[in-house]
Amino acid sequence: MKRNLFLFLAGLFCWHYLWAENTPEWIRISTSETDLIYQTAPDGRLYQTYLGTKLLHESDLKHFSTERKAGSDGTVGYRHGEAYLTAGGGDFFEPALSITHSDGNMSTVLTFVSSEVKRIDDNATETLIHLKDEQYPLQVTLHYVAYNKENVIKTWTEIRHQEKKPVYLNQYASSVIYFESPKYFLNEFSGDWAKEMQMSSQELRPGIKILETKLGTRAAMYMYPFFELGLNQPVSENQGEVVLGTIAWTGNYRFTFEVDKVKNLRVISGISPYASRYELKPDETFTTPEFIFSRSDNGSGAASRGIQAWALNYQLKDGKGDRLTLLNNWENTGTRFDENILCGLMKESADLGVDMFLLDDGWFGNEYPRNNDKAGLGDWEAMKSKLPHGVPFLVEEAKKAGVKFGIWIEPEMVNPKSNLALKHPEWIIRYPNREPIYYRNQLVLDLSNPEVQDFVFGVVDKLLTENPDLAYFKWDCNSPITNAYSPYLKEKQEHLYVDYVRGLYNVLERIKAKYPHVPMMLCSGGGARCDYGALNYFTEFWASDNTDSIERLYIQWGFSKFFPMKAICAHVTSWNRKASVKFRVDVAMMCKMGFDIGLKGMSGDELTFCKQAVATYKELKPVILDGDFYRLVSPYEGNHTAVMSVDKLKSQSVLYTYNIHPRFSEDLYPIRLQGLDPDKQYRIEEINLMPGKESTYKENGQVYSGDYLMKVGLRLFTTEDLSSHIFLLTEKK
Ligand code: GLA
Repeated sequence: MKRNLFLFLAGLFCWHYLWAENTPEWIRISTSETDLIYQTAPDGRLYQTYLGTKLLHESDLKHFSTERKAGSDGTVGYRHGEAYLTAGGGDFFEPALSITHSDGNMSTVLTFVSSEVKRIDDNATETLIHLKDEQYPLQVTLHYVAYNKENVIKTWTEIRHQEKKPVYLNQYASSVIYFESPKYFLNEFSGDWAKEMQMSSQELRPGIKILETKLGTRAAMYMYPFFELGLNQPVSENQGEVVLGTIAWTGNYRFTFEVDKVKNLRVISGISPYASRYELKPDETFTTPEFIFSRSDNGSGAASRGIQAWALNYQLKDGKGDRLTLLNNWENTGTRFDENILCGLMKESADLGVDMFLLDDGWFGNEYPRNNDKAGLGDWEAMKSKLPHGVPFLVEEAKKAGVKFGIWIEPEMVNPKSNLALKHPEWIIRYPNREPIYYRNQLVLDLSNPEVQDFVFGVVDKLLTENPDLAYFKWDCNSPITNAYSPYLKEKQEHLYVDYVRGLYNVLERIKAKYPHVPMMLCSGGGARCDYGALNYFTEFWASDNTDSIERLYIQWGFSKFFPMKAICAHVTSWNRKASVKFRVDVAMMCKMGFDIGLKGMSGDELTFCKQAVATYKELKPVILDGDFYRLVSPYEGNHTAVMSVDKLKSQSVLYTYNIHPRFSEDLYPIRLQGLDPDKQYRIEEINLMPGKESTYKENGQVYSGDYLMKVGLRLFTTEDLSSHIFLLTEKK
């Protein structure tokens, strides 16, 4: 019995730890398409000697070396970069790690100790590389998880020491990766409220380009934590070597792109060191956030699909689960509602055929009623004047109407006009000696403080304890950290930005542990918080308050580069009434669709159309939300755009085509489809037609091979302004 147990445990150990080696000739981290190779130099330091297309022959690895290369000025430089570049180690470019040791010395030199490989599942392995400083008791462990079929690598770092006194981490990036290419092109995504994910491109020249945020909470408002890199040529959808990267951190991040003296590109990703020198006590471990990237030899589309699949399989909360269609009331009623109005909207939700009614802002606060954004945040009690019977009544009424009930909260924030602000001024992030700077009339609660964490957890816990049938949260975050001073952290103010995010994760972890199945939407005054750190706890995110369907085509195009469509919320609203209801629905339909519109304002035909669209959407969810997504024609390149989703079996596909503002008698080209099986035959049918309308396409009802559709394509664009057409392709057996 004992022997069996021993064999079982030994087997388990071997399965878990594939190998552990002290001085391997190389460390190879591989996915189905990518190899990342590290090697130790004779002086014991570790270098990245390759990051590129996966090599076919293991025997070729012997050709790599860490040899030094003389620079034109006679100095010696490495052709390849150090695995985790340190300040003071003789490389004069931006470091990943900069430490002030307890004796004041600011240099760190890391040498290789050992590496090991753990199997995570049939598809993913984790490589750990242990490094140490010979002069200080400092250990660094680099982690790399390679997701084979998704072709994604996730990497992060742990830092630990046993010096007699604390050390200071000045810079503590998650990772550094190097590229060697004649040219580098960067796509970045910037924004503001209602202008999310605006894509722009530039060539990287020698020197540093930084993408960063210092906003703290509403972190991504001006700059999104994503990038696309084109090696040797600008990023293109279907060809060329491309890298997509993102960081899983719900706070200040920084990507540094530096073209060095040998024209290598160094990409350093991590928490922004801005105002965040971190004190690390002996034996404490600092764990950085995860940097996630995918590289492809076939353009950005393939890399996107890798990240989307990875998110669904490994990162997004309930990535493989279903999503609820809904009717929200924010654009329709704002904060002007009462029980009667809400009960009416619940019935309308049921009539529309959606799964849930989502009550937005304005339902709470009594002494300081939340009738606009100036008061009430923090007082999470139902407002008696509007909702005399409280939230339980609403949940019950929704049930009677035949829909689920969801609710909006913004639990990290407080209006100065609230009971909470009066009762706990010490919970608020605010300078002790200056007039506060407000953003949307509110301030941020100090989540570095465990008491505040309990309070924020308590907001969700109380609502769910009192209303076990509450089905959904929209968790908003409308302000950046405007007065970065934590009463709790006292003299350790430099920890605020990091400890805030850690505090937030503690809360979200507790919620996920206690309520693992409650779906939650991540929202931040539109889409200013949408990172994979938070999305481990959220099933989806609100992409933008801008629901103008034309603008959404651009915003959704950008977000689709990094997120599965299942994670991107798109609601049909009355923004841009020039676009027909059909156009607006057709735009929302490619994502996680909902409605936020007064149904009473619609014509009979429009309402009938919406009901039919909801029914169609529900039927096609496995294709739309779980299929592979292909961006076919970019809105950035003309007056038309098209995208499609294909189910895993390549037996069904939904194709979306949009004509924005075409020019008179403009030349229209066929749309070449992607992702189909060339040998299958597909019947094409136009769907989502207004009542009484029939498709005018001669292609409607025709059967084509996947090969023809992908090589020749179909002329489906038109010159009709603001028109859209959705087609269902079904395999003909
Ligand atoms: C933010 C959100 C909106 C809405 C309002 C409510 O702006 O993005 O969708 O919830 O807050 O105040």
